Amino acid sequence: MGSDLPNRMTRNKFYITTPIYYVNDKPHIGHAYTTILADVLARFHRLFGADTWFLTGTDEHGQKVQRAAETAGMTPQQQADTTVVRFQDLWKRLGITNDDFIRTTEPRHAVVVQEILQDLFDRGEIYRAEYDGWYCVADERFYTEKDLSGGNCPECGRPVEKVREANYFFRMSKYQEWLISYIEEHPLFIQPDFRRNETLGFLRKPLQDLCISRPKSRLAWGIELPFDRDFVTYVWFDALVNYISAVGYRRDQTRFARRWPATYHLIGKDILTTHTVYWPIMLKAAGVTMPDTIFAHGWWLSGQTKMSKSLGNVVSPLDMIDRFGVDAFRYFLMAEMVLGQDASFNPESYESRYNSDLANDLGNLLSRVAKMIEAHLGKTIPQPGEMQETDLLLRNAVLAAAEGMVTAVEEMRIDKGLATLVGAVREANRYIEKNQPWALAKNGDTQRLQTVMYCAAESLRIVSGLLHPVMPAKMEELRSTLGLPAGAPPVKHLTEWGGLIPGTPTRSAPILFPKAAGKPAPQPETQPKQTPETPRISIDDFRKVELRVARVASAERVPKSEKLLKLQIEIGSERRQILAGIAQHYAPETLVGRNIVVVANLQPAKLMGQESNGMLLAASDETGRLAILTPASDVNPGATVK
Ligand code: MSP
Repeated sequence: MGSDLPNRMTRNKFYITTPIYYVNDKPHIGHAYTTILADVLARFHRLFGADTWFLTGTDEHGQKVQRAAETAGMTPQQQADTTVVRFQDLWKRLGITNDDFIRTTEPRHAVVVQEILQDLFDRGEIYRAEYDGWYCVADERFYTEKDLSGGNCPECGRPVEKVREANYFFRMSKYQEWLISYIEEHPLFIQPDFRRNETLGFLRKPLQDLCISRPKSRLAWGIELPFDRDFVTYVWFDALVNYISAVGYRRDQTRFARRWPATYHLIGKDILTTHTVYWPIMLKAAGVTMPDTIFAHGWWLSGQTKMSKSLGNVVSPLDMIDRFGVDAFRYFLMAEMVLGQDASFNPESYESRYNSDLANDLGNLLSRVAKMIEAHLGKTIPQPGEMQETDLLLRNAVLAAAEGMVTAVEEMRIDKGLATLVGAVREANRYIEKNQPWALAKNGDTQRLQTVMYCAAESLRIVSGLLHPVMPAKMEELRSTLGLPAGAPPVKHLTEWGGLIPGTPTRSAPILFPKAAGKPAPQPETQPKQTPETPRISIDDFRKVELRVARVASAERVPKSEKLLKLQIEIGSERRQILAGIAQHYAPETLVGRNIVVVANLQPAKLMGQESNGMLLAASDETGRLAILTPASDVNPGATVK
């Protein structure tokens, strides 16, 4: 089933970018989301074997930063230097594997912006004119009178300022028809589809030329225009160029050719126009190839409104990490948002998804598998025997989920892929319940036990490999428990069954995802139901069973039996012999003098040639543990249990 998968992963290079974030404020969950998504996609493509490059960074010029610096009593550069560290530290904490981090105040960027400006100016693509318009400080954009909505900024609704000044303009309007055709001919250029339609809708109105400068008298904090020192460049013209300046444009042709065009520019829907209109036209005018896909995701909302600092409803990534750890946070963001659409963040769904998908499904599966292997199979990966139908069904389900995840990455539906993988984990838990390995162990059916535990462990190998890009640290822990080597496995190893090597030592199960305290966890479908089909009995049926407390007078092993102990017990004044299959769990001498519970009216039976006159009660769970039942406080031997 999975063998054709590697051939489908035809991309041999992958270059992904995030927006570069403004350094006027600390990062919030929205920034964390885009960056984690880019990280997950980059990690997957590395495992597909693609030559991968992942770029993120910070947008450090412009009015926002200048104003934040003034408020904080710093220079804009100090403000940028202070805030950038918060982003860089958070990315480290979140396990972000960016290959580069660009800051727009770095010379490697500023010089390239100036060269592009000079080139466009020399070729008449940039001209000077008197400008009359409305300016939104928050968005750093100019609007014409008719763009305004109720006299306010059409994007954010805030008041705008009237401005009249000389400025430099980029001849964007002349590329309007070209851009419409390009978008129509390249359906993957803007994704999802409804965002492409949104841009095409925007392009139905005549496109204005773009004002690309600010007089220094009004905004000093920016990159100087090389052809007029009284001006700095407009923030978007500066920022967008980061995607090419960071990979060697005009500096290192070999490097640039290796990375560019970008496979994905990941953006939030708030910056769709700048990325799908300004940026393609800037590239076209500069003679640079278009990126493959500009992918806009939705917003994280607080209730029904976008999270933003001014509304005071932002969720701090650090608080969320403190709750259940980095990997659970990464998982939640990826699993909860349908790419492209908005999602609402609420702590209850965070906790319930954590408890159900991670603690109950995945964590539980690992714990069952590792404990059974430790208790009954010498703590090594067992040699499987012939596969039965139930084993083949599990194998097929797991391989189909693996294929589902790979397709989901290609289709930018990470949420769907993760749901498929969690589905496979549930399948594996059901498989364990159905095949009852603890009963196989009890009955000494080692051959079958080996096969069942191999299949369950192998399912975990595949699923954990595919979850590795989303939860790298936790999956390392899981995989080391199964004796797998450190590091993320190539995806081609995850689309075929049978990668676990019998005989490999395993480790004791860690508690991978401790259950969240607080509210009661939702009941997972996979809670062990030991005997779901046991028919109900009447109280009269129950009364037929005579349960009595007995005192163990002596205990010894039954010769030639691994499991049986021979106990002499006292039920009141009566003395009897019973045999119990607990030798692997209790040393005989530890039982002497203890009160136990027995079925006293069982017909006598002979086991290994020895008579057993009654049955001791003990509880066993699916991990293979066993405990004898004893009264919680002192009662006389012979007492009835009812
Ligand atoms: N500096 C510009 C981008 C320049 S790219 C050449 C900018 N920066 S920003 O700091 O405001 O970050 C915007 C990005 O942060 C969004 O496009 C999105 O990726 C992310 N998010 C910010 N708030 C968000 C939500 N509430 N939800 C999801 N992501 C959002 O714009």
